[in-house]
Amino acid sequence: MNHMILMEMINLIKEKSIINENVSKEEINLVKKINNTLTNQDKEYLGPRWFYDDSQYRNFHCINKEPVAYIESRIIGTKAYLEIVVHPKYRKKGIAKNLIAKAMEEIPSKFKDVERLYWVVKEDNIPSIHLANKLGFTKIAEKNKELRFILEIK
Ligand SMILES: CC(C)(COP(=O)(O)OP(=O)(O)OC[C@H]1O[C@@H](n2cnc3c(N)ncnc32)[C@H](O)[C@@H]1OP(=O)(O)O)[C@@H](O)C(=O)NCCC(=O)NCCS
Repeated sequence: MNHMILMEMINLIKEKSIINENVSKEEINLVKKINNTLTNQDKEYLGPRWFYDDSQYRNFHCINKEPVAYIESRIIGTKAYLEIVVHPKYRKKGIAKNLIAKAMEEIPSKFKDVERLYWVVKEDNIPSIHLANKLGFTKIAEKNKELRFILEIK
């Protein structure tokens, strides 16, 4: 391969990785901005790690171009672990339901190995438990004050 073409390819790869890095940093900042609106109770529901900075899947819901909710997922083999947060002011409007419904379509099409969604919810997180039931998740375990829900998507 000629030297010029090789250098061009290296630059392209570099450029692409810089763009990806920026997009991901921008996304993390949006996630942090939404997390800043949460109550202490919400933070308790989410646990010590409020968001997955290493998520392979992330999506936002925007109102007037302002992100007010996010869903993200860490993919581990056949499992996709979900985390979802909606700004307190915009709850009970179906935003979480829509984000999860979209993730149910997009995750298996982007990550071919994924067979089921996992959602771990604190036992007193009533909104999440209702939502999981409403969307057809099945409770498979209950321990350490947490409920483990799964949804088969294949
Ligand atoms: C859980 C959470 C994401 C729900 O978001 P949301 O946008 O308000 O949910 P939706 O409007 O899509 O609700 C869908 C269903 O969830 C249930 N639900 C939502 N909020 C509820 C509440 N406060 N009480 C009871 N059920 C509730 C209802 O069954 C609702 O169905 P409906 O259309 O029949 O009313 C939101 O409350 C939140 O961000 N909580 C803090 C963070 C958190 O706990 N995240 C999940 C932990 S992993």
